[in-house]
Amino acid sequence: MAEIVREGNLFHLRNDRISYILCVMPEHALAHLYFGRRLSRLDPDQVLRHAGSGDTYNFTLQECGLDRLPQEYPSFGLGDQRVGALKIENADGSTAADLRFVSAVIEQGKPALAGLPATFGDNCQTLRISMKDQQTNVQVELLYTVFEDCDAIARSAKITNGSLADIRLTGAMSLSVDLPDDQWDFITLNGAWARERGVYRRPLMPGHQGVSTQCGASSLQQSPFLALARRETSEAQGEAIGAALIYSGNFLAQASVYQNGSTRVMLGINPDDFSWLLQPGDSFQTPEAALVYSAQGLGGMSRAFHTLWEKHLLPRKWLNAHRPVLLNSWEAAYFDFDEEKLVSIAKSAAEAGVELFVMDDGWFGHRDDDTTSLGDWTVDKRKLPGGLGRLSDRVRALGLQFGIWMEPEMVSPDSDLYRAHPDWAIHIPGRAGITARHQLTLDLSRKDVQDFVYQAVSTTLKESRAAYLKWDMNRNFSNIGSTALPVDQQKELPHRYILGLYSVMERLVKAFPNVLFEGCASGGGRFDPGMLYYVPQFWCSDNTDALCRCRIQYGTSMFLPPSTMGSHVSAVPNHQTGRITPLQTRFAVALGGCFGYELDPRKLTEEERSALQGQVKYAQDSESTRLHGGMYRLLSPFEGNDTAWITVSKDQKEAVFTYVRGQAQANAAPALVKLQGLSPEKRYTVQETGQTFGGDELLFSGILCKVDGGNAASLLYTLKAVEA
Ligand code: GLA
Repeated sequence: MAEIVREGNLFHLRNDRISYILCVMPEHALAHLYFGRRLSRLDPDQVLRHAGSGDTYNFTLQECGLDRLPQEYPSFGLGDQRVGALKIENADGSTAADLRFVSAVIEQGKPALAGLPATFGDNCQTLRISMKDQQTNVQVELLYTVFEDCDAIARSAKITNGSLADIRLTGAMSLSVDLPDDQWDFITLNGAWARERGVYRRPLMPGHQGVSTQCGASSLQQSPFLALARRETSEAQGEAIGAALIYSGNFLAQASVYQNGSTRVMLGINPDDFSWLLQPGDSFQTPEAALVYSAQGLGGMSRAFHTLWEKHLLPRKWLNAHRPVLLNSWEAAYFDFDEEKLVSIAKSAAEAGVELFVMDDGWFGHRDDDTTSLGDWTVDKRKLPGGLGRLSDRVRALGLQFGIWMEPEMVSPDSDLYRAHPDWAIHIPGRAGITARHQLTLDLSRKDVQDFVYQAVSTTLKESRAAYLKWDMNRNFSNIGSTALPVDQQKELPHRYILGLYSVMERLVKAFPNVLFEGCASGGGRFDPGMLYYVPQFWCSDNTDALCRCRIQYGTSMFLPPSTMGSHVSAVPNHQTGRITPLQTRFAVALGGCFGYELDPRKLTEEERSALQGQVKYAQDSESTRLHGGMYRLLSPFEGNDTAWITVSKDQKEAVFTYVRGQAQANAAPALVKLQGLSPEKRYTVQETGQTFGGDELLFSGILCKVDGGNAASLLYTLKAVEA
């Protein structure tokens, strides 16, 4: 059960496994006391004495006590020397905000956040705390939600200018939490194009450590996520705290260690180059952040995130709906296609049992390469003389659904759209901007641009009768300026852009409830919980090499579930790495997410084509366990040569186990991999070998992983519980 209990000045948020406790101090500052395993009760005295570093403690403002007080939403300039969650330029030029507790309300369920993606649900309770600066009348409303079915707290803040003069926000974090010690390792996900979300773990040190972006998106290089794990915490055991931001733009995720080893964790919109004008009566809503706690290691932390997103964030419609096995034309044809070629590829895909054919980039304007036509979303009749409708009809006549690619947020300088509306591109007047991939970003902070994008996408969806849309976004912001915003609001552009994007997505998913939207941003460059509120799956990476994907999917699973990761079998030699890996391994790895193909099936051998039929059937039959079962990482590609993971159905009756050995080893003992998530009381038969083992044996002794010679060899085992 999830409940929020008020005991005097204490607010205790808890479910059966976790507690989060805060407290109103004598002078009405709001203190953070605890986040971790569920407690029956907590005496604030010990925590506060520890923070105050003595037998007595004095947190009065006059005595600079705020600098030691573990706080819930700290500001800067009134005694707390640490980095603040809230920064305001007041009308008098000062930056202080003296927030004091005013009132609290506890309510059932989870309120929506205006204009922003956020968690939802009924089996949860929300605490609404009002704070106020008496002098300026700036008000802050803090929201905290505790969920019954996952070990997470969702938080956000709303800042209202209750004064009679303009003020300016220069920083408004979604979450700030002060932990009593620094004995943690700090984990982030970092990467690059085609190398997204590598796992980096190092000891927490005094000072600041964190990740942030300023490129307009959550990015290929960073993810809006951080984790703290005890030094001894492993995948299966030990304490871990994870924090993630439900947001797709510039963010900051930071942990700072201060005197006496206290740790302040912060997550929110990146305050660098951010400011927001609040006129009297205006409010600013921060994005939502989620904080999870696990006593079952990093695996437990990840599964808490997976459950949170699946039960409380992802589009309801797609939660348990079948995700069609698709074939995407990108690596099959790139820009070089016409109607006949696409239909012929689709026919070959249909013969293998593929369910959805996706036409990627190259169908509009006169786009024979990436130098032109973004924004001109009219079909290229040279390639598709019968238009989108005829191609779609022919593909659908083969028994396939039809899907299409768009990059709606962009414009090519060589396009009719740009020639008609040069002001619609983000730019600084007078400066020659740089293009990236020969394109500019449309200024989605503008309502007219939002309407254009909405119209372009809906017309394309209608004309093509598409059941699926791949929504791509392939460049970072530069020359950041909007001709639609006044001079003193230019720093609002990046956040206004994201609000504009969310508003368009909201309209589209409502208008086309049966269309499956897949996100993409040069691969996984905006693969974050914010986008996942609108699109249930995201193209995980442009890198389709099976060994690289082991790393990318392993890192991604730190905070995002398999059901969100687009993952395809591609041709060899791989187009990104030149590596040749066995088809069976490419298949086994692609099963780690929403399964599909990224190749020309006509170029496969007869034998490979018939293997595809079995693959598609297996992907369909195992979908529920693979995508929605509990996911357990077993061997890390960041720590050794091998990767292994298992997904286990909720009733523990079925599991899919994958093992991939990177480089072949001479004279090496086959790995004995301890499984997780199975029932020790049940017996399981490995369908592929016919062998039966006790669940306890598989969990505590392991399963032998003997693979053939050669690099990138793999095993894919389906475990089924033996009926008693
Ligand atoms: C990006 C995407 C690819 C593909 C191309 C098309 O790079 O990540 O999957 O759609 O654009 O130009």
